[in-house]
Amino acid sequence: MQNKIILTGVTPSGIPHLGNYVGAIRPAIQSQYDYQQALYFIPDYHSLIKLQDAKLRQHYILHNAATWLALGLDTDKTIFYRQSQVPEITELAWILSTITAKGLLNRAHAYKDLAAKNLEQNEDPDAGISMGLFNYPVLMAADILAFNAHYVPVGKDQIQHIEIARDIAMRFNHIYGETFVLPEAVIDEKVETLPGLDGRKMSKSYQNTIPIFLSSKDLRKLIMKITTNSQTPEEPKSTENCTLFTLYQAFAKPEQTTALAKRYAAGIGWGEVKQMLFELIDQELSTARERYDHYVAHSALVEEILAEGAKKARSIAAPILKLAKEKAGLL
Ligand code: TRP
Repeated sequence: MQNKIILTGVTPSGIPHLGNYVGAIRPAIQSQYDYQQALYFIPDYHSLIKLQDAKLRQHYILHNAATWLALGLDTDKTIFYRQSQVPEITELAWILSTITAKGLLNRAHAYKDLAAKNLEQNEDPDAGISMGLFNYPVLMAADILAFNAHYVPVGKDQIQHIEIARDIAMRFNHIYGETFVLPEAVIDEKVETLPGLDGRKMSKSYQNTIPIFLSSKDLRKLIMKITTNSQTPEEPKSTENCTLFTLYQAFAKPEQTTALAKRYAAGIGWGEVKQMLFELIDQELSTARERYDHYVAHSALVEEILAEGAKKARSIAAPILKLAKEKAGLL
């Protein structure tokens, strides 16, 4: 076991999908016993940026929490909490924002891409961009630095945010003296970005996702909808850039993947591949599905677990915030 802190979260701005599962939740749960402390949280303040429907947010928060719990998050060993229940994080975010160069945030891709798109469409570059979106990386830095986390497992699209958190930590340490640990992103190179129903990256914004928890019947239906080309069953097929193959690989044992690659070379019908994919995913998730339904039906229990987690999280964040305030001459 490593004497280190690991921390991550998935924004509750939708129902968690297989991309979240393979890229973040599954590896996080797999490594929950590998470090001195694992902190997994629900970044509900981050969800305010894209989602402004209060009811829907509550719904997503519950389903996000139920997902982690159903998939085996051990609340005795890990700390599981909601960001908004740990006020130390937002307090720290303000302090960090005062030492963060605006230029650093100008270069953050979420903001930069939107501003570029606006310019392309001859709009004001800042049209539709809130300060929340612009400051997003500062809040994310506070999420991490408030716990002095060493490792942050994330998808490739989040690497820049971890680098920004590192920059901010370095800057604070430089100005006020050694305070924060410099965090590092942990990227699983084996896990490719998971493609969605249409072959593009699985993402809420493309509406091409497969939710983690569906009934067997609905899961099968959705998998049958995955876009394929018009090759006949007999034709040898390439595994390269094949949506079905990439999805299969994310759930299969290595020998299963090798076996499927052989079938591809010999010729296999897409319908059969889809059925194999369905069975594989269904098998991996079927026992967790029942636990999921249980947690979703018992939201008070979930709230209790999160409140307990927030207490533990605050006990770690409070002394770190105190030290930062001391260093900055606030105490
Ligand atoms: N930005 C992450 C996402 O979009 C969520 C997130 C917020 C996060 N704060 C974090 C992830 C801190 C890791 C560490 O899914």
